[in-house]
Amino acid sequence: MDKGRVYSGMRPTGPLHLGHLAGALTNWVALQDEYECFYNIADWHALMSDYADSGRTRRNSLDILLDWLSAGLDPEKSCLFVQSHVPQHAELALAFAMLTPLGWLYRNPTYKEQIQNLQNKDLSTYAFLGYPVLQAADILLYKANKVPVGEDQSAHLELSREIARRFNHFFGENLLPEPQTLLTPTPKVPGTDGKKMSKSYGNSLDMSEDSKSLWEKLRTMITDPARKKRTDQGDPDKCPVWDIHKVFNGDEAQREELAKGCRTAGIGCIDCKKTLYGHIDTMMEPIRQRRARYENNPSTLTEILAEGAKRASAAAEETMKEIYPAMGLLGR
Ligand code: TRP
Ligand code: SF4
Repeated sequence: MDKGRVYSGMRPTGPLHLGHLAGALTNWVALQDEYECFYNIADWHALMSDYADSGRTRRNSLDILLDWLSAGLDPEKSCLFVQSHVPQHAELALAFAMLTPLGWLYRNPTYKEQIQNLQNKDLSTYAFLGYPVLQAADILLYKANKVPVGEDQSAHLELSREIARRFNHFFGENLLPEPQTLLTPTPKVPGTDGKKMSKSYGNSLDMSEDSKSLWEKLRTMITDPARKKRTDQGDPDKCPVWDIHKVFNGDEAQREELAKGCRTAGIGCIDCKKTLYGHIDTMMEPIRQRRARYENNPSTLTEILAEGAKRASAAAEETMKEIYPAMGLLGR
């Protein structure tokens, strides 16, 4: 039976943290058994915003692979590869550029938002406007049926479907299937300062965190400001530590107990944090073991990517063989 294809990607912009694990990777790992999965280290996409400061991109691409493997992505099951290793992505993006109206791109809410938010970078480039065109090429190159992403990528996925429809309209009924969004619920995982977890805020709990630094970060994490002293009563709903409990502490009865202890000052914040630390540290143990296994064999990382590129290229070439004649090109 044909398993159906899953495609997703991440930009290699720095170490992954527990927000990425809960909001994406856990789901990616689960999909491996049900689908033929392609997971893409989107280095061209990273360059689109980091072209002026690309010194870490190579390093980041290998680091993100290590994070993925440690989460349990399995190169025997899934195709793990670097976008720039498979030139067909760039080719198909150019092909799509022929038929993508500028209005669609200017209207893209992510574009407007990023131009606003990342004022320290000059993003008024040709490539950055075309970001969703390359993303559409990523997905449609493999005729992927399902694309697991968070809500923030919904507009890009809608554009991918529109580009597929427009391509089919001009160049051949149903050559490109419209990919479905597999919306991944993204649980709220605040950072140690209570703001959104992000490496750029320096508040993240990383996937590569060792036991000691994990505890240090949790120990000093901010809590409900009402609990200044051990005897002050608190409210878990006003506490970022509690948001993390809800994601990583699966023991509901214990959570209820702790919430009561917080409200009555029956427990201290350190007790509450120690319990959370126990849950996260236990969860991270197999993650650390897998990381150690791959870290000790750096050459396997490049082998995995070489093998991934081979598999991805073969699948990509199948599609490109149809794209060229459909568009009226002599092709190859
Ligand atoms: N734009 C995505 C992000 O920033 C990353 C990405 C690149 C992607 N290509 C993709 C996601 C294809 C899904 C499918 O998170
Ligand atoms: Fe937060 Fe727990 Fe302290 Fe309550 S006891 S304020 S939930 S850390």
